Amino acid sequence: MTQDAVDQRKVLIAPSLLAADFANLAEELQAVEKAGADLIHLDVMDGRFVPNITFGPGLVKSVRKTTRLPLDVHLMIENPAKFAPRFIEAGADYITVHLEACPHLHRQIQAIKELGAKAGVSLNPHNPPFLLDEILGEIDLVLLMSVNPGFGGQKFIEQTLNKISAVRSIIDEYDYECVIEVDGGINNITGEKCVKAGANILVAGSYIFNSPDYGQAIGALKE
Ligand code: DX5
Ligand code: ZN
Repeated sequence: MTQDAVDQRKVLIAPSLLAADFANLAEELQAVEKAGADLIHLDVMDGRFVPNITFGPGLVKSVRKTTRLPLDVHLMIENPAKFAPRFIEAGADYITVHLEACPHLHRQIQAIKELGAKAGVSLNPHNPPFLLDEILGEIDLVLLMSVNPGFGGQKFIEQTLNKISAVRSIIDEYDYECVIEVDGGINNITGEKCVKAGANILVAGSYIFNSPDYGQAIGALKE
């Protein structure tokens, strides 16, 4: 999905499975799909790049069989060069790597694209947007972390809004085909601020999965 393919007037919602009931994943996937989700966000953590561990390509493969929605795989791992091919083989449509985990980011992006997936780059909260200047023209997606990666349910870092605006200006100025996704602490209030600042995709875990009505939660984010 390029910027052209994203209707700039409407935001896309990517529920993060991290907050779902893992014992009932098939039902959870069906429920968010029915509730209007646009992509499924999968948080891969290795206990090294971030202080938490989640799942690997095996789960992505199972999820691939269970939903028709695009799979947005967020790699919070060291050495993504080693593992990205296995996630693509498992069915990932998007692979997002962290800038902080890639000494050879440009090469990593090319490798993901050569394997047929869309390539994204993520920035941790402390990193300034100019670090993306030389790569924005090469990628399909930029993922701005609005919490420190590793856990769901954290508070949105307001400074992210300036970063979204800054990245939006560069993308528009150079007409890059890159969408902006924001991840962490997203709810109806912070989500609206992100969209106003120029975000195209909102990732939301606890806001959706802790809600009694997924349709209402996703609807509130889309408004
Ligand atoms: C955090 C993950 C997020 C997380 C968001 O490291 O990248 O995707 O699941 O969870 P909430 O929406 O609860 O902040
Ligand atoms: Zn994520």
